[in-house]
Amino acid sequence: MVDYSLLNFQVAGDHTGNLIALEKGKHFPFEIKRVYYIWGTAANAVRGKHAHRKLEQAIICTSGSCDFILDNGKEKVTVHLNSPTQGLYIKHNIWREFTNFSPDCVVMVLASEHYDESDYIRDYDVFLQELENSSSSK
Ligand code: TYD
Repeated sequence: MVDYSLLNFQVAGDHTGNLIALEKGKHFPFEIKRVYYIWGTAANAVRGKHAHRKLEQAIICTSGSCDFILDNGKEKVTVHLNSPTQGLYIKHNIWREFTNFSPDCVVMVLASEHYDESDYIRDYDVFLQELENSSSSK
């Protein structure tokens, strides 16, 4: 099974509008070191196409919708995000691709580490090889 979880955030706010507050330990398990967001993405674009060696992320589609295709080297799952009340929590060693962006899609990512290109695996064959190496060293 592909290792991911969907976090359901509690909505505060009142009849005038909604609010969600996220706190480490309560709503997701890591210390945030970086936040980034993407928007204005072409509907048919495929973003991501990488895995991380260490990074943990909580991914929130704060507006619109898009699909996350998660791959652990053996199985794939597509997670459709279309609500700011949900977060997709993923750890390292998951190949991820994002696609099917609605025109109003804004994706906000909470990340456990600063940006570090050496944490990226951008070649699918290298990803498979590293998985193989880590399972044979256990
Ligand atoms: P990339 O992670 O490849 O984007 P995506 O996974 O959404 O397709 O990053 C795209 C570019 O932005 C790349 O040149 C690196 C840069 N970047 C940063 O400088 N800091 C960051 O925190 C991120 C996520 C990307």
